[in-house]
Amino acid sequence: MRKKVYVGMSADLIHPGHLNIIREAAKLGDVIIGLLTDKAIASYKRLPYLEFEQRKEIISNIKGVSRVVSQETLDYRPNLEKLRPDYVVHGDDWKEGIQSSTRQLVIETLNQWNGILVEVPYTQGISSTKLNQELNDLGTTPGIRLKRLRRLIASKKIVRIIEAHNGLTGLIVEHTQVDINGEVREFDGMWASSLTDSTSKGKPDIEAVDITARVSMINDLMEVTTKPIIFDGDTGGKTEHFVFTVRTLERLGVSAIIIEDKVGLKKNSLFGTDVVQNQDTIESFCEKIKAGKRVQVTDDFMIIARIESLILKAGMEDALIRAKAYIEAGADGIMIHSKEKTPGEILEFCQRYQHFTTKVPLVVVPSTYDTIYENDLADAGVNVFIYANQLLRSAYPAMLNTAKSILTYQRAYEARENLMPIQEILTLIPGGM
Ligand code: SPV
Ligand code: MG
Repeated sequence: MRKKVYVGMSADLIHPGHLNIIREAAKLGDVIIGLLTDKAIASYKRLPYLEFEQRKEIISNIKGVSRVVSQETLDYRPNLEKLRPDYVVHGDDWKEGIQSSTRQLVIETLNQWNGILVEVPYTQGISSTKLNQELNDLGTTPGIRLKRLRRLIASKKIVRIIEAHNGLTGLIVEHTQVDINGEVREFDGMWASSLTDSTSKGKPDIEAVDITARVSMINDLMEVTTKPIIFDGDTGGKTEHFVFTVRTLERLGVSAIIIEDKVGLKKNSLFGTDVVQNQDTIESFCEKIKAGKRVQVTDDFMIIARIESLILKAGMEDALIRAKAYIEAGADGIMIHSKEKTPGEILEFCQRYQHFTTKVPLVVVPSTYDTIYENDLADAGVNVFIYANQLLRSAYPAMLNTAKSILTYQRAYEARENLMPIQEILTLIPGGM
């Protein structure tokens, strides 16, 4: 009988390194590809460019591949125990880094039936990381960008979004990474916040910056990034106007709009009841959601309903009743907001939300209750975590201090230690030389 050879792969950007592994594996027997699902890949790195079914079609047609099965976790054990292959073949580059523990478990599992791990020397001069970088530099299309948010929500334990209010902050969101013991962390997308968008234009957060100006900022973000964008739509305005906003954003490739259930002159939620703010009726807000859903062209665009009941002290029961009604009206997500210093009421909402028979993705904005970790909210059932204003809030004090220092000393020297070197600012954005 021919031997069984198992090869785990993402098969997103196929390159000669992959072909070499398959070639070597095929010398040992029938090659079964364990194709990692989006979820398995997103558990340790960036979501793949191609969807699972697309990757499956490609890898199934590669010479030397006998069969493709899905591998649901980074951990090989469930598939290995089921298939009991004679060999596992992998590149030798996983001896270090995040995959080294996975490798160890593969060896131990194979030992149970005298299976063998064969490691193929890493193909020099080509790597998925480099290809990824080059693809990223090429950019994206509106359709791919738009869809990405839903794919992220489906694949990740929690989707991490942060505010961006111009091209430069967009670049920070796009490229900033930290490597924590081999796990590369980055932001999944951008929040086009009404607060930071207005503030950076020197205006209050009262819907005074019109949609045209907001869309112009979105264009700046889109010029230099590929990650998905969630648009803060404030109240959505009049229903008759909201439908045009939905169309515009969807056409541009924005993934979602969040609208809040307030009417009249909107003030920022973090004022709470210190200012006059009125909540919309359930019926009227549901009509707005329905109107938006009717005009969107794709199935991918999301209209997320934001509930202000906790902000306006209308109570938990009101928040839950509204959540049910908005889902019924067709909302693709629920954002529950709070301005408490502790996450108690949000966690209570999440816990009760888990009992809903129809659930949609849950979004939170922990600006005031910022001690809670992403993971704790993910465990409570939250799907999207938005850091709504932190980039602007860190930039402004830094600029203010520099301005004060220059006025105080009447030269820039004293401020210098807090400044980025001139050489760095000149080369920060590629293409300037
Ligand atoms: C924003 O970022 O503009 C928001 C969130 O809507 S909050 O400021 O908390 O209202
Ligand atoms: Mg806002």
